[in-house]
Amino acid sequence: MTAEYKVHGDVAVITLMNPPVNGLGLATRQGITNGLTQANADPAVKAIVLTGGGKAFSGGADIKEFGSPKALQEPNLLSVIRACENSDKPIVAAIHSVAMGGGLELALGCHYRIAAPGTNIALPEVKLGLIPGAGGTQRLPRVIGVEAALNMIVSGEPIKSEMLAMLPGQKLFDAMAKSAESLPEEALAMARKVAAQHADGSPLPLVRNLPCKHPLGDAYFGFARNMVKGMAKNLPAPLKCVDAVEAATKKKFDDGMVFERDIFINLMWTPECRSLRHIFVADRAASKIPDVPEDTPKREIKSVAVIGAGTMGGGISMNFLNAGIPVKILEMKQEALDRGIATIRKNYEAQVKKGKLKQEKYDERMALLSTTLSYDDIGQADLVIEAVFEEMGVKEAVFKQLDKVMKPGAILASNTSTLDVNKIASFTARPQDVVGMHFFSPANVMKLLEVVRGEKTAKDVLATVMAIGKKIKKTAVVSGVCDGFIGNRMIEQYSRQAGFLIEEGCTPAQVDKAVEKFGFAMGPFRMGDLAGNDIGWAIRKRRYQEKPNMKYSKTADLLCEMGRYGQKTGAGWYDYQAGKRDAIPSPVVVEMIEKHRAAQGITPRKISDDEIVQRLVYALVNEACHILEEGIASKASDIDMVYITGYGFPFWRGGPMLYADTVGLFNVAESMKRFAKNPHDDANFWQPAPLLARLVADGKTFN
Ligand code: NAI
Repeated sequence: MTAEYKVHGDVAVITLMNPPVNGLGLATRQGITNGLTQANADPAVKAIVLTGGGKAFSGGADIKEFGSPKALQEPNLLSVIRACENSDKPIVAAIHSVAMGGGLELALGCHYRIAAPGTNIALPEVKLGLIPGAGGTQRLPRVIGVEAALNMIVSGEPIKSEMLAMLPGQKLFDAMAKSAESLPEEALAMARKVAAQHADGSPLPLVRNLPCKHPLGDAYFGFARNMVKGMAKNLPAPLKCVDAVEAATKKKFDDGMVFERDIFINLMWTPECRSLRHIFVADRAASKIPDVPEDTPKREIKSVAVIGAGTMGGGISMNFLNAGIPVKILEMKQEALDRGIATIRKNYEAQVKKGKLKQEKYDERMALLSTTLSYDDIGQADLVIEAVFEEMGVKEAVFKQLDKVMKPGAILASNTSTLDVNKIASFTARPQDVVGMHFFSPANVMKLLEVVRGEKTAKDVLATVMAIGKKIKKTAVVSGVCDGFIGNRMIEQYSRQAGFLIEEGCTPAQVDKAVEKFGFAMGPFRMGDLAGNDIGWAIRKRRYQEKPNMKYSKTADLLCEMGRYGQKTGAGWYDYQAGKRDAIPSPVVVEMIEKHRAAQGITPRKISDDEIVQRLVYALVNEACHILEEGIASKASDIDMVYITGYGFPFWRGGPMLYADTVGLFNVAESMKRFAKNPHDDANFWQPAPLLARLVADGKTFN
């Protein structure tokens, strides 16, 4: 039963019962139409209340049905809404908690609406690359006005019912209930009242019959299109929202509905919509770990200690302060603590100045922060995160100390980006409590958190860290232990390709431009200059020892030998003017590259932007396949989330794995085989990974 039918005197109440948010899946839609039929057939029933049980009126379409024939199966949402409109007896929608997407469209098909204060009202379809497809673009402007409706439809953001109720002349709500608790009674009273009003057979009010105009007409929509175009680069849906709302002002209602439906169906099959839907599902799936049941008991995290107040320690601490969790930072010297705290303070002050943070909040957060130079002061913390220098010896000393002082059951986490978490765990007598929490810089901004699962990490530790990741608003993705974990291990292959490309004929600017046009936030060379080219240099020096057969372009080493570490030294792959971040192509670097090519006997060739993008992106994909096969990542969609939230991969392409699916895995594998034949590249690397070869052979995809 996904909709309940009950009669209260002369009013039938249909209650959606499809937890968690009363999604409008097929069974629920059937439940509603059955209820309507029953109510209309019962002479004792004079009016109907439609409401939601539990935590929502309705969160809208059932996302699991997207793209499946079930979504269109009768009664589809349009038919349900038509059945509401056509009901002989008045229907009152009793709205509380959440009315979004199809849920709001359903309410707009009812004759009357009463809402509880605090209800989140939205048409969020645009966030999935769609427009509302069941009349939202045609009915909402009729009840709250064209501008307010278009703002809601283009942004997809929820607005509280009480705010909407204050809009002048609004017809969205016929009444506001005093509270969510009193809503059922008030809805019944309203139903009885309207039943009496219509006892004479007077027509029931329908949103479709309301007028819809904007006083400026075309001029307004021209302005709206310009605004939306600027905001929604690379996404087709937002501009289509404008088209659909404009149609509401120009077409007859039923023609507008057909127009909206056509747009909706066309958008459903765009790669952008597919990508956004993929991310929606992948984001939720990331927190699910195959062998860790969702009901695994979690440890309580009421306080956190952070070791090291450097670049990462400060940012990490801010995440917890923002979530209202007290943090104590430990350092070796008072000066380091003072510097770290000053940076945190400056960061918050900048937010206050910009109006992004209220002064009281700032004070609250700073009050949660304390410091110490002694391990004796942190023993009672529930979670300790180490962010000291990236040297095994230093980590060893810290973890031995933590093992001594931390209370039993405390979680011991390391923010290491390259070191072996199993080894770090072995410095303690409680490896089950040790886990990697790999934040990305700036840690208070970047969404990604790689949760590194050691061989012995306990399941409840993992479950707790995933939950705390959510609490501090990160996208937490589990990675097994390997060099670079998921993200950096893949980026190394991408960087190697960038190096080969400049050896073979590209300039750094050409490579950067090509991938930035593809949609990456920043190309590999601008990124290197920002992060510091010396970091990659240190890693390569280690690699030359560990993997002497691995091929690298020497250009990056030559750059570092020239002292060009990037923005911090005023010169890297690009030149920088003092105090500025604009990357200016450098003749010195071009000369260095040309000399290097000559020394290697490489005749430069013209390389297309397509080849640049393919080599960089497919390098990510092939390495990701090895990562999946080794069980370092448990699913392809986790890899997509890592790249979208941590590495600036264009989200409208859905991540590297979904992108490869979109291009076609056969095509991807064929390109790899072609790259393997390039004598200046790494033939071994370009053998399609066994997983990829298998998927191609079976005609399957990653996602
Ligand atoms: P940092 O050099 O800015 O800060 C390290 C801080 O740790 C310094 O303030 C230092 O005084 C303190 N420290 C060193 N030894 C200590 C000890 N024994 N006890 C207490 N404090 C000690 O380094 P950063 O960049 O913050 O990196 C820290 C860790 O985070 C490293 O493991 C690094 O690999 C990792 N990481 C760094 C990222 C980055 O982009 N900087 C990104 C992700 C991880």
